Amino acid sequence: MANFPPDFLWGAATASYQVEGAYQQDGKGPSIWDIYSHLPGTTYQGTNGDIAADHYNRYEEDVRLMAELGLRSYRFSIAWARIFPNGMGEVNPEGIAFYSRLIDELLKYQIIPFATLYHWDLPQALQDIGGWENRAVADAFATYAKICFEQFGDRVTYWLTFNEVINFIMLGYRDGLHPPGVKDERRVVEVTHIVNIAHAKAIAEYRQLTREGKILAGKIGMAHVLLPGFPISDQPEDIQAYENYEVMDHHWFYDPVLRGDYPQTMWNYYQSKWGAPTVLEGDLALLKQAKSDFIGVNYYQSTFLAHNPLNGVGLTTINTTGEKGSQKESGIPGLFKRVINPNIDYTDWDWAIYPEGLHEGIKRIQERYGTIPIVITENGIGAKDAIAANGEILDYPRIEYLKQHILACKRAIADSIPVFGYFAWSYIDLLSWLNGYQKQYGFVYIDREKDLERRKKQSYFWYQRVIQTNGAKL
Ligand code: BG6
Repeated sequence: MANFPPDFLWGAATASYQVEGAYQQDGKGPSIWDIYSHLPGTTYQGTNGDIAADHYNRYEEDVRLMAELGLRSYRFSIAWARIFPNGMGEVNPEGIAFYSRLIDELLKYQIIPFATLYHWDLPQALQDIGGWENRAVADAFATYAKICFEQFGDRVTYWLTFNEVINFIMLGYRDGLHPPGVKDERRVVEVTHIVNIAHAKAIAEYRQLTREGKILAGKIGMAHVLLPGFPISDQPEDIQAYENYEVMDHHWFYDPVLRGDYPQTMWNYYQSKWGAPTVLEGDLALLKQAKSDFIGVNYYQSTFLAHNPLNGVGLTTINTTGEKGSQKESGIPGLFKRVINPNIDYTDWDWAIYPEGLHEGIKRIQERYGTIPIVITENGIGAKDAIAANGEILDYPRIEYLKQHILACKRAIADSIPVFGYFAWSYIDLLSWLNGYQKQYGFVYIDREKDLERRKKQSYFWYQRVIQTNGAKL
């Protein structure tokens, strides 16, 4: 099987709200998550990111541990409300200074910074004017992106505009589980288009600055969740359900980013149903011009689809407790439903463990969009890690999970798919949005009883060797 290229980006990722804490420090404005997570009943046992891993104040120690781990790259996100406390207007110099220090610290150890501009923590001030339903927010995003490029683009050469548009829109506007807590499918469609416009505008700013030689010429793209579907049987109605799912949950989101247009079937469906999305003159040209240098893929699980009659199941709540088997079937009547596959393993949060899905999913991307460089921007398993009497963290299931998925990347590379990096989720234990701190993902454990002391897990030492051997020893 092909080896990993010598400059393969072995990395790990985090996101600002989930790791930084310091939610009111040094002039930061409130984000939608600061507000939402404080509302009763929104998250698992009322957990929030007020303190999180306190990475904002402990980043030097964290970067030192990254260096010891051997990370070649670290993916982090910038909190918009640290840079612009009100989302637009006055820049907060202390916010700029923090990310500047973090980037310098990474570079001190030759760790390549991989920056995400938006990992869901919209400034609350922008939500107050309509959030992603207001086109002014797309313009504010472009301005924020430009400031970040100008301030950090002399040192950062890998950029992601958005993290998982699919998830923050579906969870925020269809399921009502993330802020702003809306359940309205028409608004999903409108918001998607405005976010796509914001992405395209940010790319235009980036191209302009690099053309003018004002920042280093790097690479820019978006990170999408990849949750490939598979029909649960070879019955034609299950295959149809799978096709409905793929176009609705994947093509609708990937096409505008990688092809600059929308899939015709979904377009017709949404237009006839709601006359959405509202497209203004110039929008589609803007999308076409916004070429990505690569696509980031966040892969955790696959999903299995079955026929769902018109009077079938609708959307249900999700398993946020970690009680295996508590996830109910969920679907869109008349189109598809997501069902459990009895032949494969699931995590305690009922996520299907299916490494083949990663290989197959990225193959499908290449088939539909042509050869495009791919980076796995997230991959990991949420688990309640076992702790030995001596305090050692025995996260063997994580090692096994990561190993199988890295092997899937290796197989993709052997198929000539240009996968240039792999970022495990997550570098350190952090807040899982709705699931609290008991759903752990990191290589580094945080002892929440002991002043957030950092401790290396078994997987830390395993990944260290994977990186040292460039993936030869898994
Ligand atoms: C991705 C997000 O959807 O999945 C991360 O980009 C998130 O921010 C990760 O933490 C795992 O999801 P969860 O819900 O288990 O935290």
